[in-house]
Amino acid sequence: MLQPHVLSVCHVLELVLCLSAAEDFDWTKNHRGSFYYGTFPTGFSWGVGSSAYQTEGAWDKDGKGMSIWDVFTHKKGKVIYNETGDSSCEGYYKVKDDIALLKELKLNHYRFSISWPRIMPTGIKSDHVNEKGIKYYDDLINLLLENKITPIVTLYHWDLPQVLQERYGGWQNLSMINYFNDYANLCFERFGNRVKYWITFNNPWSIAVEGYETGEHAPGMKLRGSGPYKAAHYIIKAHAKVWHTYDNQWRSKQKGMVGISLNGDWGEPVDITSQKDIEAAERYIQFYLGWFATPIFNGDYPQVMKDYIGRKSAQQGLGTSRLPTFSSQEKSYIKGTCDFLGIGHFTTRYITQKNFPASHGPSYFTDRDLAELVDPRWPDPGSEWLYSVPWGFRRLLNFVKIQYGNPMIYVTENGVSEKMTCTELCDDWRMQYFKEYINEMLKAIKDGVNVKGYTAWSLLDKFEWDEGYSERFGLYYVDFRNKNKPRYPKASVQYYKRIISSNGFPNQKEAENWHRKAIETCSSSNQLLAAEQQRTTAANILRLIHDPLTSHMEMVTEIVVPTVCTLCILLSAIFLMFLLRRHN
Ligand code: NOJ
Repeated sequence: MLQPHVLSVCHVLELVLCLSAAEDFDWTKNHRGSFYYGTFPTGFSWGVGSSAYQTEGAWDKDGKGMSIWDVFTHKKGKVIYNETGDSSCEGYYKVKDDIALLKELKLNHYRFSISWPRIMPTGIKSDHVNEKGIKYYDDLINLLLENKITPIVTLYHWDLPQVLQERYGGWQNLSMINYFNDYANLCFERFGNRVKYWITFNNPWSIAVEGYETGEHAPGMKLRGSGPYKAAHYIIKAHAKVWHTYDNQWRSKQKGMVGISLNGDWGEPVDITSQKDIEAAERYIQFYLGWFATPIFNGDYPQVMKDYIGRKSAQQGLGTSRLPTFSSQEKSYIKGTCDFLGIGHFTTRYITQKNFPASHGPSYFTDRDLAELVDPRWPDPGSEWLYSVPWGFRRLLNFVKIQYGNPMIYVTENGVSEKMTCTELCDDWRMQYFKEYINEMLKAIKDGVNVKGYTAWSLLDKFEWDEGYSERFGLYYVDFRNKNKPRYPKASVQYYKRIISSNGFPNQKEAENWHRKAIETCSSSNQLLAAEQQRTTAANILRLIHDPLTSHMEMVTEIVVPTVCTLCILLSAIFLMFLLRRHN
């Protein structure tokens, strides 16, 4: 996830921060450090999210086809420790258990995604529709509705059918638009009588940049400076086509809504008195969120993208810009194809102007002429890229309101991770993160931003793409070492539950009480987990004894290495004490 040149100038930041931190932006009444006690509008929808590849497992069961992530993760060296989503949380087999968790939280909605190759193994409707896959989602939707939980369904959370990648080059090919439209149409036909909230694409920025520029994500292509723009172009067109399909064929009958979920970090100018930094920060956001939101709301790419990519392309001797263009017909077809906007948001960067000569070669990152910085004081409990900067959330939401005409917003992702090795269920840092981020969202609503719902990311610890299982985002801890993948509530479950039942933060006394109570309950979960993990370790040792050949490697990494290390440390300590004594 971490971009190569990011954070390179961290050490100069402290100095510059003194300049910028003193000021707040003018359209706010509450100081960014202050807490706002109050509640959300009646009917505000609270939820949690997940996605198919990250949680379902059952990668080759019941007629499911391969996705690009199945193939990518089975190649060596693509994911930390070569982990895969083959079984992940076994969500495919645990629908009832997971719905019980949703009920426990008393949620209004659940956001999940449909795996395209699970219901269309090759991605092509005329080839085959997999009824077993359809049944899985049918059951899930029905159970949610029986429990009064509204499904918010993402059609594409990155798992393109592998056949479409192999035959056509995936999102580098125009034909994806029609294939995606056929798939979406089938979903509307089969599930649309019950699903009223559709999200076409999840975080297309990642699909384009990590899938086709850096290659960190499937399909792992490094088509720098052109691949991501082409992929984004077809994704935007595919989104628009699906919106029109719904509008023309289904809306009057099904009365649902179709949106898209865009992720965006907030970009704050390092020096708010510098015009260059202000423009660089604006560019950062336009190249991120604006890349997709501007065509969808206004019909065309942000002017600044057209200018910068166009100029650099010319300097690189290209006859046309690496950023594709929309015809005027396409512009009007794409404009306004969003009934609600999904916003995924996790973190913020400080941005400063930095020129990259065109001779560096084509690249999305250098096209922007900026550098990203972080404040080393920002908390970062888990993922390397994820710093907790709550005030950035409110600014981003206000940016959306101003730029795109105050659209209806559902926050589709917001949350924080911890490291895999962390078995501490009393996740203070997550409670703090949710408290502050949700509070900034409340302030944004008071500013007039039209936020209708919030989705905490995520229900469970799960497969975190190229980071494998090394980062845990879940409200529920999943013990991946245990074949049954049991779930344990972290303290944040209790905390989030209180926010939901109070529809916000009624007063200071109560909110502080929630924290205390959550910490009380999590210590018993901690004990449960510790006992269970001891049992798993014992069972694993027994298995190793019975099955020495196949388990040799596991034994080396899980038992021999830690034991030898501990012995070495002990012996060194004894030796040191011995030397010291002799010396004295
Ligand atoms: C955004 C992605 O949509 C989601 O799948 C992922 O888990 C989060 N980022 C955290 O990295």
